[in-house]
Amino acid sequence: MKKHKRRKSIKRKVSKRKVVRRKVRAKAIRRRGRVVIKLKKLTPKISLGHRQAIVILDFGSQYTQLIARRVRENKVFSTILPYNTTAEALKAMSPKGIILSGGPASVYEKKSPSPDKGIFKLGIPILGICYGMQAIAQSLGGSVKHNPNREYGKTEMFLDDTRDLFSHLPGNITCWMSHGDLVKKIPPGFVSIAHTLNTPITAMSNVAKKIYGVQFHPEVTHTLKGSQIIINFLFKICGCSPRWTMQSFIKDAVEEIRKTVGRKRVVLGLSGGVDSSVCAIIVHKAIDRNLKCIFIDNGLLRKDEVGAIRKTFRGLFHLNLDYIDRGKRFMERLKGITDPEQKRKIIGEEFVKVFEEEAAKFKRVEFLAQGTLYPDVIESVSATGSPSARIKSHHNVGGLPLHMKLKLIEPLRELFKDEVRELARELVLPETIIYRQPFPGPGLSIRIIGEVTEERLRILREVDKCLLEDIKVANLYDKVWQSFAILLPIKTVGVMGDSRTYENVVAIRCVESQDGMTADWVRLPYELLEKIANHIINEVKGVNRVVYDISSKPPATIEWE
Ligand code: XMP
Repeated sequence: MKKHKRRKSIKRKVSKRKVVRRKVRAKAIRRRGRVVIKLKKLTPKISLGHRQAIVILDFGSQYTQLIARRVRENKVFSTILPYNTTAEALKAMSPKGIILSGGPASVYEKKSPSPDKGIFKLGIPILGICYGMQAIAQSLGGSVKHNPNREYGKTEMFLDDTRDLFSHLPGNITCWMSHGDLVKKIPPGFVSIAHTLNTPITAMSNVAKKIYGVQFHPEVTHTLKGSQIIINFLFKICGCSPRWTMQSFIKDAVEEIRKTVGRKRVVLGLSGGVDSSVCAIIVHKAIDRNLKCIFIDNGLLRKDEVGAIRKTFRGLFHLNLDYIDRGKRFMERLKGITDPEQKRKIIGEEFVKVFEEEAAKFKRVEFLAQGTLYPDVIESVSATGSPSARIKSHHNVGGLPLHMKLKLIEPLRELFKDEVRELARELVLPETIIYRQPFPGPGLSIRIIGEVTEERLRILREVDKCLLEDIKVANLYDKVWQSFAILLPIKTVGVMGDSRTYENVVAIRCVESQDGMTADWVRLPYELLEKIANHIINEVKGVNRVVYDISSKPPATIEWE
């Protein structure tokens, strides 16, 4: 009996240990950024509302977001979902059409991603692009093989049927190819509608079922007339109407916020960047004084920034805006700190504290509004076909909703950055906000290498002002991703007049980028570099040397800390 009990307790201990181990493993996986949940039967809770929409199933292509953009450029709403979204879920959403994106896998590999076959029975028009076309062929009884003459880049394509998907197109066009596999056997019910010298079935269609596949990429600009193919699919085949405009977006968003919030109240951390500004104006339109915007001056902002923001939002838009100057408090906590990550941590923590204190003064708050954008929330598919979530943390407000038990309102979470800019134009925000370059939450503190002091802040603010003036005069401010200065922790010798100086060095960084993930340095003309250097050295006391950063990201990053 005793033995039996002991065995039972050992068993329990082992299984307990197993659970703990499993939990630890799950935690570690999550920490490494991989999603622990299995996505086999994924039924996302997405409602397209009354909107006409195209759903893009993502098989991991680098162009998936571009497809979404191309659809939206034609005033049709589009949304990206994981490749294994079930037919059932899609049916419930009833989109006007489905696009299967490209992807890096091969459909004949064992663990390659494949769509739910039920989607082909829904009666919803489908267009497969590259891997998407191969997935259609494989799913519907055709076959896909490796192509020894893989095609990459611009390729001449001959259209064998210029009705339907290819209407309004000439007999041959240049298309963009990027594939090592091809459809060898067309599925029953389909016909080939285009070929190249290397790929006999470059496009296929089943007009009766409205299912189409193209081996090339109509979404990239290198495919001449690719936009016409997308237009044909949207309007001719799916029967969409071009209704999704920024005005309609604002109207819908305002209604939705009113419905969600009712008489409750919302707080928002305004930074002056285009995302939080547009978000604030939309929520304000919906609930007026029940939105409290909190602008926290952490003492690490650029010259004249605070005044401009207050003037715009309080003066022009009459927002319920609290300006909170906590510069001294932030500086106090940054005293003696030189480690970049510690600077970030301190500023983040302090921001949350100040925000909480201020928000608590506003009674009956139930929501926090945030300017989260679409690229931050899309569930992307990794190159191996296994799903992964790419969720960037918002440095400024990270942790706020959890801390404060607030519900989130994110009216921009379906928009790309340039759509937010379009929205900002529609809302008549000043150009200084619409085209404001990204500015990091920890502000100038991570552009001052080493300790942040009032004197070093003064120097960097002056330098930054000179640089931005020159960049704006050269008409470059809106064209580059970021242009800024970094104050280095070294002094070098110089001569000014008859005497030697021993002063600070500043570096200038000017980069081009699409999304901040990769970047290249801008080849500024020598004359402009000369003008900037002279301007800074002549005007800013304490600087006698200017250098230009010519590193790209990767391996360098955009910021220096
Ligand atoms: P890096 O330096 O990582 O920067 O190449 C990529 C983009 O992110 C911005 N950045 C930050 N933004 N808090 C922010 O809010 C931060 O701590 C931070 N660090 C970098 C950077 O300005 C660039 O646009």
